[in-house]
Amino acid sequence: VGPHDLVGRRIVISAGGTREPLDPVRYLGNRSSGRQGVSLAAAARARGAAVTLVGAHLEVPAPSGVDLIAVATAAELETAMAAQSATADTVIMAAAVADFRPAAVAEGKIKKGDDGAGLVLELERTPDILVGLAAVRRPGQRIVGFAAETETDDDALLRVAAAKAQRKGVDLLVVNRVGWSEGFGSPTNAVMVLDGAGTVVARAEGDKLSVAHRILDLLA
Ligand code: C5P
Repeated sequence: VGPHDLVGRRIVISAGGTREPLDPVRYLGNRSSGRQGVSLAAAARARGAAVTLVGAHLEVPAPSGVDLIAVATAAELETAMAAQSATADTVIMAAAVADFRPAAVAEGKIKKGDDGAGLVLELERTPDILVGLAAVRRPGQRIVGFAAETETDDDALLRVAAAKAQRKGVDLLVVNRVGWSEGFGSPTNAVMVLDGAGTVVARAEGDKLSVAHRILDLLA
């Protein structure tokens, strides 16, 4: 039995990856499994918090004792997070949200022609949900963002992450390296945690549940 240091706290966590429809049968998505966010939900619940998990296409089951709200798109995630964060002490955006979505969703299945021609898709930006939540944070509310980066060089990774922590207006930014074989879907994670000024305040490595506990230590 671990510490019960989050009793009385309400924590809202987003996890998984959004899918943005192209037509009734296709979407643009990403490889997020939701494991790190689900581990955060399990860890927060185990420490006594009331936890709401806003999940987009989770590949792992939601922990018991956690309220699950299932969403599909960035727009649905934004609506759910806005509603849930209104009464939350802590908001953690672990979801991989699409940065772009098809500018128009075709009503019927997009068909290929007989001429062998390719297809050009027009994409538009999605709203940055995290920036929006940080901008309207309640007094005392803590906002945690995630950043998945492909920089292989440590200094470059830190520069990108520090700039992001400041730009997003978060209290903490959890940074991990992702690539073809790293990060998404993996049972383990290696992260750096930055404060809102972009200073590294912790590093954690191991299975995603122990990384989750380390992140919560910084919030407890
Ligand atoms: O800018 P970037 O996508 O790297 O930022 C990642 C962080 O921002 C994550 O916490 C993610 O959940 C959040 N995000 C968001 N809305 C977007 C894109 C990312 O809230 N449209």
